[in-house]
Amino acid sequence: MSEIRSVVLGVGGYLPDKILTNHELAKTVDTSDEWIRERSGICQRHIAAADEFTSDLGTHAAKAAIEHAGLTIENVDLIIVATTTPDLTFPSTATIIQEKLGMQHGAAFDIQAVCSGFIYALHIADAMIKAGPYKHILVIGAETFSRILDWDDRSTCVLFGDGAGAMLLGRSETSERGIISNFIRSDGRYCDLLMVDGGPSRTQTVGHVRMVGNQVFRHAVKDIAIAMKECAAQIGIKPSDVDWFVPHQANQRILDGVARQLKLRPDQVISTVAQHANTSAASVPLAFDTAVKDGRIKPGDLVMLEAFGGGFTWGASLLRL
Ligand code: ACO
Repeated sequence: MSEIRSVVLGVGGYLPDKILTNHELAKTVDTSDEWIRERSGICQRHIAAADEFTSDLGTHAAKAAIEHAGLTIENVDLIIVATTTPDLTFPSTATIIQEKLGMQHGAAFDIQAVCSGFIYALHIADAMIKAGPYKHILVIGAETFSRILDWDDRSTCVLFGDGAGAMLLGRSETSERGIISNFIRSDGRYCDLLMVDGGPSRTQTVGHVRMVGNQVFRHAVKDIAIAMKECAAQIGIKPSDVDWFVPHQANQRILDGVARQLKLRPDQVISTVAQHANTSAASVPLAFDTAVKDGRIKPGDLVMLEAFGGGFTWGASLLRL
C-alpha cells in the first residue's frame, strides 16, 4: 500500500505595512543600530497597526496560501493556528480566522509552543492527515509580538516583530513530495529563562517578554542542531544533505552557529531576520514563503525547517516541496 503524505500545496505570508528601523527605535530606546545589527543581524521589524490583530495578519497569510494552492476555503477541513499573542484569551484565534475566512464548516484550534509553535502545528497537522479523515489542513503561524514587549527593556524589545505565515497541506497517497519526518521536544526546567511575566491565572494581566538572552542562545544552538540531526536520521541522511534550511529567525548568530556545527553552506540557509526580526511562530512560514515566492525553493527541493522557543520547546520538520 502506498504511503499517505501531507503535501505542501500552497504558502502565504503577511507583514504589516509599518516598518520600524533600528535607527527609528534608537530614538526612543537606549540602543543603537550598530549594537542590534552586530548582536542579532536585525535591521528592521514590521509592527501591526493599533486596529490590526493577530487574526487579521493570519487571515491575510491564509488567503495567500489558499490562492497559491489554487483552492478555495470550501476545500479546507481544519485550521490550526500557532500563536503566543492571541486576539483574546478565548475563543481561539483559529476560530476568529475561520470566521474571517467565511468558513462555516470543519474545525479550528490554536496551539501554543511560542517560537516553536509552527513546527509543533505542522507535526500535529501531518499526523491528523495521516490518521484521517482530513484532506486539507491550513497551518498558520501568526503573531503581534509587539503587544507583549516591554519597550523600556532594550534587551528584548529590539529583537521582535509582527507577521504571519501559512501553509496549506493536502493529503496524497501517490506523491513522493510532502512532509517526511518531524521531531519535537520540550524541557520545562528552563521555563524561567524565556517567559512572559503575566497570564490570566497567575496575574490577570497580559505581561511582558522576559529573557536571559545569553543562556537561551547557548541552548538554542545545541538543541536545534540535535533536532535537525534527529529529523534527518529518520531517513538516513545528514542535515547538510538537504537543499534548503529554513530556520526560526531569532538571531543571525544562532543561524550561523548552527550552520557551522552542521557544516551547512551559507547559500543553503534562508535568512529573513534582517528584515522581519523574530516573529515567533510566524517566522518559519514567513521565511519559507519568502524563499518560495522569490524562486529559491523550488518544487522537488528537500527542505529542513527548525525552531526553538520558550518552554524551552524546539523541533524540526523535513519535507520535499
Ligand atoms: N542595545 C545596547 N546594549 C544592549 C542592548 C541593546 N538593545 N541589550 C542589551 N545590551 C547590553 C547589555 O546591557 C549588556 O551590557 P553590560 O555588558 O554592560 O551588562 C551587553 O549589551 C551584553 O548583553 P548580552 O545579553 O550579554 O548580549 P548578547 O551578546 O548575549 O546578545 C541577545 C543578546 C541578542 C539577546 C542574544 O543573547 C540572543 O539572541 N539570545 C537568544 C535569543 C533567542 O534565540 N530567542 C529565541 C526564542 S524567542 C521566543 O521563544 C519568544
